[in-house]
Amino acid sequence: MRKPFIAGNWKMYKTTAEAKAFARAFTKLYNSSDVQTAICAPYTQLETLIEAFKGTDIKIGAQNMHFAEEGAFTGEISAKMLKEIGVDYCIIGHSERRQYFGETDETVNLKLRKAFSADIIPILCVGESLEERDGGKAFDVVKNQLASGLKEITKEQASSLVIAYEPVWAIGTGRNATPEQADEMCGFIRDTIEELYDDVVSDQTIIQYGGSVKPANATDIMNMPEIDGALVGGASLIPEDFIEIVNF
Ligand code: PGA
Repeated sequence: MRKPFIAGNWKMYKTTAEAKAFARAFTKLYNSSDVQTAICAPYTQLETLIEAFKGTDIKIGAQNMHFAEEGAFTGEISAKMLKEIGVDYCIIGHSERRQYFGETDETVNLKLRKAFSADIIPILCVGESLEERDGGKAFDVVKNQLASGLKEITKEQASSLVIAYEPVWAIGTGRNATPEQADEMCGFIRDTIEELYDDVVSDQTIIQYGGSVKPANATDIMNMPEIDGALVGGASLIPEDFIEIVNF
């Protein structure tokens, strides 16, 4: 049985003071439930949130990491550094990183390998652009992102993987995929995981939908059979909105 998994992606929002205020407000609203909740925050807010949510079942994730163990990579953060402070998850291959920071399927693959070896659960983001969807290429694009991103990832590693289907055209645009469109692609992702591994792995894989998930559409999205969770950007910044999504 897959446990629903709702993760916030704060992107480059919130100072330490703002993160503390969020944690205070969110803790008051939050009751631990059958849903796994996580917040993927900027690096400088990770320890603040880990401390603030101590004693709850809320997990903390990063939004990126480097693929090397360590080295002369100015400005980068390693998986080991994240693990040391108690980070459980890391978003890998978000479309904003692919679009603005030169992330490729190759670097995504290297980062996945490193995350697994450091015992960090990766949230692998895949998704097509509007042009690709309109051109009828959405399924091919996602399949390729999965096949190259998961190269040489073992079956054992893949069984703890989280995948977020985030159509680029739905991120931050207020234009979400319909629950049916999202479900269709999440089902296709599950079939692809079965092809790459087997049905045991595909049954276990948590597949989230991300892209303009809001309190108003969360229930419809979460009720779809192939969708196990949501990766929430904008609405995860507001405690009252994020709690409504967590309590879908
Ligand atoms: P959004 O972002 O909910 O603001 O569309 C989702 C994401 O980029 O993970």
